[in-house]
Amino acid sequence: MICFNEQMQSFFLHSRSSTYVMKVIENGQLLHLYWGDRIPECDLSYIHLFYNRSFSPVLYDASELCYSLDTLSAEYPAFGYGDYHTPAFTIQAPNGSRICDLRYTGHMITPGKPDIQGLPHLRADENEADTLALFLRDDLLDLEVTLFYTVFKDLDVISRYAVIKNRSSQELSLLQAASCCLEFDHSDFQLIDLHGSHCRERQAERTPLHHGIHSIESRRGASSHQLSPFAAFARPDTGEQHGEVYGISLIYSGNFRISAEVDQFDRLRVQAGINPFNFRWTLGSGDSFTTPEAIMVRSTAGLNGMSQNFHALYRQHLSPSRYTKAPRPIVINSWEASYFDFDEEKLKALIASCEGLGIDTFVLDDGWFGHRDNDTSSLGDWAVNTKKLPHGLSGIIETCKRHHMEFGLWFEPEMVSPDSDLYRRHPDWCIHAPGRIPSQSRNQLVLDLSRQEVQDFMAEAVSSILREYDIRYVKWDMNRNITDLGSEGLPADRQAELSHRYILGLYAVLERLTTAFPHVLFEGCSGGGGRFDFGMLYYMPQTWTSDNSDAVDRLKIQYGTSYLFPPAAMAAHVSACPNHQTGRMTPFETRGNVALGFCFGYELNPLHLSPEETEAIKRQTARYKEFEPLMLEGRFYRLCSPFQGNECCWQQVSSDGSLSIVLYARVLATCNPPVPRIQLAGLLPNALYRIDELDLILPGEVLMNVGFSIPWLWGDFSTMLFTLRKYEGLPEKQTQKE
Ligand code: GLA
Repeated sequence: MICFNEQMQSFFLHSRSSTYVMKVIENGQLLHLYWGDRIPECDLSYIHLFYNRSFSPVLYDASELCYSLDTLSAEYPAFGYGDYHTPAFTIQAPNGSRICDLRYTGHMITPGKPDIQGLPHLRADENEADTLALFLRDDLLDLEVTLFYTVFKDLDVISRYAVIKNRSSQELSLLQAASCCLEFDHSDFQLIDLHGSHCRERQAERTPLHHGIHSIESRRGASSHQLSPFAAFARPDTGEQHGEVYGISLIYSGNFRISAEVDQFDRLRVQAGINPFNFRWTLGSGDSFTTPEAIMVRSTAGLNGMSQNFHALYRQHLSPSRYTKAPRPIVINSWEASYFDFDEEKLKALIASCEGLGIDTFVLDDGWFGHRDNDTSSLGDWAVNTKKLPHGLSGIIETCKRHHMEFGLWFEPEMVSPDSDLYRRHPDWCIHAPGRIPSQSRNQLVLDLSRQEVQDFMAEAVSSILREYDIRYVKWDMNRNITDLGSEGLPADRQAELSHRYILGLYAVLERLTTAFPHVLFEGCSGGGGRFDFGMLYYMPQTWTSDNSDAVDRLKIQYGTSYLFPPAAMAAHVSACPNHQTGRMTPFETRGNVALGFCFGYELNPLHLSPEETEAIKRQTARYKEFEPLMLEGRFYRLCSPFQGNECCWQQVSSDGSLSIVLYARVLATCNPPVPRIQLAGLLPNALYRIDELDLILPGEVLMNVGFSIPWLWGDFSTMLFTLRKYEGLPEKQTQKE
């Protein structure tokens, strides 16, 4: 997968159908030459014609060749020698100089992939991937930069990160360190990002690239509702099923930046990594800094091809959790059923009402601890409120067992309420700037996870509950972003390390908890999908996709999220109507159809349902169980985008192609509409499929090229879920049912 051609001084990284080429030029600088369709090894230096460009300074030791870093494609550009684009990396020497000159000193190619200490990362053995470590060095600073590249054999994925080591005897300041830099010699792309807000996460947006810099970033201390750590660069004619696209993401949950810079010669530089905004890291003598890992995907099979590479990485190479590929519980969550207004009797009645519905786990959400009856108190006091629950959690857990359910519990461990014993004991444990009154958000402050004693407290607070009770599922919430950056645990010259140290502290706690309690399924949440990223998914294989449970809004949220994450990472629940976030009334069937095929559950009180709705739950849970393997192992295809019109359609296909489900949704009804026809994807071309709901049998290649027509739908917010099963009988003459 990875070779170094000595004569050409070039590295060739071959993934499933792409090749990535770098070259060490005469003076030791490392250039990027190519990432595209697979090619044989060949010296590509001929592509650079070294025009002598005005205002592009030439390098001091290559002036006769007109080498200018202003016009060449650098692999990991530093600041100072004529490259006027955004550098990948900036370091400051004690004398204030920020100039750095990295030259190649050697490399190492190893099978498999090394672990990255302290950071979530992809994992692969020697049959699945090869890793290249490329050593660069600045002699004057005595600084070493190692670039790591892992190439995955069966995917079109390269992952990258950098390790920066100070080998000198003096202190250096790291001002910026991207995980990856990517150069394209053209900018004939459109940029796709996932922007949003609380309750409106990951709305897909496609815009032309323009000259100058476009940044996709978070400064909130979390990967954020507002912009996900993701960017795709698609050719203008690339669609869901065809065309070339490059996708980038980060295995990181904090402040990030992905930038796209189009220069004077229409070339594009893309970089991804920790956000340099308010970042500075002191590298003492002998210290090293490791960037988060970046994921780079290339697809020529359209946006679905890109997404399927991300999805396969999640499934095969990301989370060590035993749940990644294992069946997930069908949960009922108490939040929208009762909010803070519950006691033991109410919960027991709720649990009892689930008997026989096919729901297997009851999750007790916010409000079970301290004296928390609303969101103004008690975060940090993780002891059961025995006024509400006189028999502690045991009374509830026993009731769950009696009704054949497991028990799950909500925590928000990273936070502290000013009205809490924890805050009264340790006011210095929250993030705050000396002399300033910290800003509150949802009446709470953020614990300073850069401090070891705070990490220890948090790990023990959660562990003691998990040790005491039989808990199979934890919903880990985080309901505000970080402000008032300041830590009493860090000296003045290290305060700008806090945002990253917070995330490292969080990862350390999650590593401890997930290792100590491997039987617990952790679900991530941050007001829904405010921290939905590959970093959190490493520890917690699923995330509450959005606090917005409205089925119509969920079409866009789940469609947008699928650009990056598979359905097995997205929790989707059926909730009550009128919907608590939008006030919309949607058919019960629509709510089920939109959530089926994702980590399924309910967010309502069955005691308030009609007998028909209760019967519908039984049907939905049975269907979920039948289709669960499609979610865990199958492929997901977006067919028709809700961002472009009144319809939405997606499809899931089992790994062997024998079973598929198709969701079709029409948002608003209109009188006398055209007949929609849907062309499917991912089927076995020569196999016959029976569509249960239409009583129709057709070959896969016909369904993928001609498609099938959607029957008449009545009313707003209508959906149909179609089931396709491989049919082993003889073909019949077909008429489509209306
Ligand atoms: C957040 C979560 C919700 C719920 C509440 C509880 O908003 O996203 O699902 O758990 O907190 O306070």
